[in-house]
Amino acid sequence: MTERIVLAYSGGLDTSVAIGWIGEATGAEVIAVAVDVGQGGESLETIRQRALGCGAVEAYVADASDEFANEYCVPTLKANALYQGHYPLVSAISRPVIVKHLVKAAREFGATTVAHGCTGKGNDQVRFEVGIQTLGPDLKCIAPVRDLALTRDKAIAFAEEKGLPIETTKKNPYSIDQNVWGRAVETGYLEDIWNAPTKDIYDYTATPEFPPAPDEVTISFEAGVPVAIDGVKVTPLQAIKELNRRAGAQGVGRIDVVEDRLVGIKSREIYEAPGAMALITAHKHLEDITIEREQARFKATVGQRWAELVYDGQWFSPLKRSLDAFIEDTQKYVSGDIRMVLHGGQAIVNGRRSETSLYDFDLATYDTGDTFDQSMARGFIELWGMSAKVASGRDIRVEGK
Ligand code: ARG
Repeated sequence: MTERIVLAYSGGLDTSVAIGWIGEATGAEVIAVAVDVGQGGESLETIRQRALGCGAVEAYVADASDEFANEYCVPTLKANALYQGHYPLVSAISRPVIVKHLVKAAREFGATTVAHGCTGKGNDQVRFEVGIQTLGPDLKCIAPVRDLALTRDKAIAFAEEKGLPIETTKKNPYSIDQNVWGRAVETGYLEDIWNAPTKDIYDYTATPEFPPAPDEVTISFEAGVPVAIDGVKVTPLQAIKELNRRAGAQGVGRIDVVEDRLVGIKSREIYEAPGAMALITAHKHLEDITIEREQARFKATVGQRWAELVYDGQWFSPLKRSLDAFIEDTQKYVSGDIRMVLHGGQAIVNGRRSETSLYDFDLATYDTGDTFDQSMARGFIELWGMSAKVASGRDIRVEGK
């Protein structure tokens, strides 16, 4: 029987050419699998037909947009995950859900190998292949760009020679990856890290210099999950989409960073994640009133480690799973409403309320009604400083100053 290979298919030039390229190099039949993670753009049926037109024996489309929002974006939100303090893991969280569908398709179509369009220099190859090793340990992996010398120029020549139904003239100098959680843009002119991004790079966000009138929004959460916007019930997918639209119109969520890739390279990235950044900001502010201080401090460390694991392709790892359990436990009382103003590139919280809040007005107030006994503070401070005071006494004794 002819060997079968499942290819992660985006509909773009590289993966379209990869269908025939893999076929010629290996003699295998190629099954194209496109996964909808809310990336927008062309209809998936158009993409499916293109795969068939490029020589795929089967083309399969998985609608994973709600699954992606519920099982990948929501955990990222609960963790307030920002890799290196900036990046909400847009591409990193899409790979594991794509892998799930690739492995499922490999089973359905009897394939022995999974192929993807990544280069040998990035994180995404790691995320795909570590995921596949975990979910389908018997499956092999192949990356035509990395393993079969499929360069850009060769791809264009191949597409023209074979008359493939794909645009080869439109030159986009950037490498773009997008889904409902955000959009990542790299390469080209951006590789000079002193160059400011030009306006044409952005798609999810409008220029914040000329914003429309301020937009006030109330986001309601239940146990860390967004459940309503301005009182209207929403699914997580709807919440992200609605905030992409409203925060995007105000230029919220533009990120320009040089980040540390897993493979040891520092790389310049432009991200736009209006919905994700508005949601993370709101969620964090709700945690500020509903999570106890020590739990909150520890959770910040856990969230950072979680982000690193996910960035590094360890979505399906035991440690990531254990951290999920911790994070989930912290979310029990993260319920309530956050009011924020979206304007001029910023999402600023100006109101919060929760039935499960730890904010105690009577303890906090400086007005009459104050129930806090200030005389307790003296003794507390005395003891709190004791350890450092003893050490400082020792230093003076030994060092004589
Ligand atoms: N650097 C980011 C990451 O590793 C984004 C990569 C996105 N890929 C792309 N082709 N632009 O998650």
